[in-house]
Amino acid sequence: MRLIERQQELDASLLDFRDLWHPQPFRENRPSWCERWPALLDELLSLPEDDVSHLNDDVAQGLSLLAKHIPAVANMAPLASLPARASVVLPNLATNWAWEIPGRKQQQIEAFASAASPSGQPVLDWCGGKGHLGRLLAQAWDAPVHTLEIDVGLCEAGVGLARRARVNQKFVASDALTVAEWPQAGQHAVALHACGELHRRLIRDGAEKGVGRFDVAPCCYYRGVADVYQPLSSNMRLALTRDDTRLAVTETVTSAPRETRLRDRGIAWKLGFDAYRRAVSGDAYRSFKPVPDAWLRAEFSDFLTKMADREGLPLPSESAVATFEREGWLRRDEVMRLSIVRHAFRRAIEVWLSLDLCCYLADRGYVVELGSFCQRQLTPRNLLISARLA
Ligand SMILES: C[S@@+](CC[C@H](N)C(=O)[O-])C[C@H]1O[C@@H](n2cnc3c(N)ncnc32)[C@H](O)[C@@H]1O
Repeated sequence: MRLIERQQELDASLLDFRDLWHPQPFRENRPSWCERWPALLDELLSLPEDDVSHLNDDVAQGLSLLAKHIPAVANMAPLASLPARASVVLPNLATNWAWEIPGRKQQQIEAFASAASPSGQPVLDWCGGKGHLGRLLAQAWDAPVHTLEIDVGLCEAGVGLARRARVNQKFVASDALTVAEWPQAGQHAVALHACGELHRRLIRDGAEKGVGRFDVAPCCYYRGVADVYQPLSSNMRLALTRDDTRLAVTETVTSAPRETRLRDRGIAWKLGFDAYRRAVSGDAYRSFKPVPDAWLRAEFSDFLTKMADREGLPLPSESAVATFEREGWLRRDEVMRLSIVRHAFRRAIEVWLSLDLCCYLADRGYVVELGSFCQRQLTPRNLLISARLA
């Protein structure tokens, strides 16, 4: 399927199902779909705990569950699934190229480099940190590389690593959002996990300036979005809020049981506080500032008292503490089950956001491909946009 067709179909489908993925059960006790699809609600509420974490994590399984009740949802799965990019063995790679890189990061960088093809053009490594990707490409592609990075300390560390590897890699310590001289025409721009506006600026300005080739793996789409996402391409009808763009990068599964317990307690206690606030000051969700981690490690009574004090509410009585702790855990069980619906659309939103960038490039004369460069277990932000000037 051509990217533009995929974009149009995904745009229309996401719009059709907006009532399923836009409401946040953490904020809205019962989203409107609960009334419209009562059998779906019953099935979700009776799920055993083991299935709940699995279904929140696995988009395909989540969509199949939904499709049992709303058959048209089945069309979403093929629109949101993309082929794996072909990968090549990297030539010229010194076995010790990856000094100082944690194992998983090294694998991500190697997977990205294997899925991007050399173009013979000088490389610009955008928001490159210590320039690990740039250093690898300088070696494997035998190309001159500029790594642009805002953090001077990271640039200095990168200079040392490049010297040690004897590669042709220079560092530019600059702000990618404001720098005027970069990117440049005829460059091969690569960006591995440049967040939000950082990757959007590269694509927008790079296309205007005539960058020859792009390989971009986007992440943190919500960064730099004010209230509503401003698409780069035209012809889309869907408007995403900042929170919707966050959904694209919501990962729910944490591996260690201790982390899972802490996460669950955090959700339950915050919902307990929300229930207390609704009881004393009106039944509507209001967002609150981030909660310090230390508050979640104490007793619930301390947590609730500190939160009430911070948010200007009457301090809770002993019996209120017991009531709202219980209420928080009950709400947590329900929120986790209702969230399966929203989470099933996570990848579709991410693909929609990436297609926006792809179609913008296609409109400006690039031949564009979109696929995944590694398994999700290595990094869930595994989409790779590859584009070359036709
Ligand atoms: C998620 S890291 C990715 C680093 C590298 N591409 C990699 O995959 O290892 C994002 C990098 O962007 C840099 N960064 C953040 N804001 C920036 C800006 N305004 N201009 C340039 N670099 C920036 C950060 O310092 C960080 O090194």
